[in-house]
Amino acid sequence: MQLNTGEDSAESYLWSHCAMNFPNSLIESLCAAKKIVALTGAGISAESGLATFRDAQTGLWSKFKPEELATADAFQRDPKFVQDWYAWRRENALKAEPNAGHLVIAEMEKRAPEFLLVTQNVDGLHGRAGSRRMVELHGNIHRFRCFDNDCTSANFDVENGRCRSCGGNLRPDVVWFGEMLPADALEKATAAAETCDVFFSIGTSSIVYPAADLWRRAKNCGAIVIEINKDPTPLTPLADYSFLGKSGEILPALMAAVGSAMEKRHN
Ligand code: OAD
Repeated sequence: MQLNTGEDSAESYLWSHCAMNFPNSLIESLCAAKKIVALTGAGISAESGLATFRDAQTGLWSKFKPEELATADAFQRDPKFVQDWYAWRRENALKAEPNAGHLVIAEMEKRAPEFLLVTQNVDGLHGRAGSRRMVELHGNIHRFRCFDNDCTSANFDVENGRCRSCGGNLRPDVVWFGEMLPADALEKATAAAETCDVFFSIGTSSIVYPAADLWRRAKNCGAIVIEINKDPTPLTPLADYSFLGKSGEILPALMAAVGSAMEKRHN
């Protein structure tokens, strides 16, 4: 996983979400879409009370140093410190409930002829909202693996953070900085992005690669790219439609508009 902070800028096509008045062209495209891919990031879970990473005041990376918590070196230096931080995040994730944004995405999966959710989130909220056709690009905080060997999870002593097979430490089954994404997950996400009609980028700062490259692959292959994010990102000026606001508000409004357009078509 790599971080990129720069992006070329172009004329922005910003659609004010305040009116919740969606362009007909967008509604038409969504009604006609055969294959939809939705990429999500920490922003979709913000309305469930979970901190994002880069929001200035509340983001996790405004309070903690990623190099002390989200790298294999950090774990090797101080496994307990890292384990405790992830235990705290795990607890927060379990206490949180999926919000309207998660639920709309789960509903989209049922309605679209073909659908894939690609999430960078490790909190498990999409699954709890009912999403099934899903790729977790950065792993899942509720799973563990042995840091030292490829040991089977049957022998994990999760409570004490130890692997009974080899005596190694247990780490969360997430992707840390400097690590490769699971190859099968990335392949599936890339193939879906390159063959979809509509690509959503929701609640992500679009700066962590390779996830941040998926919208471009989709666009290069002819998909319409729709961004829903609270703050502008490098994608904002380049998306076909950009909605600045909360995903838990914009997604339900957008799906309602698509639903009523579909109904009119059938009547
Ligand atoms: P970021 O924290 O980088 O970005 C979250 C985005 O969500 C920001 O652009 C916010 O403006 C937006 N946002 C906040 N609240 C929102 C809301 N209610 N509705 C819509 N958007 C909202 O998080 P990610 O893009 O997910 O990796 O970060 C990607 C990766 O970087 C993470 O998977 C994580 C992080 O370091 C690791 O931990 C290894």
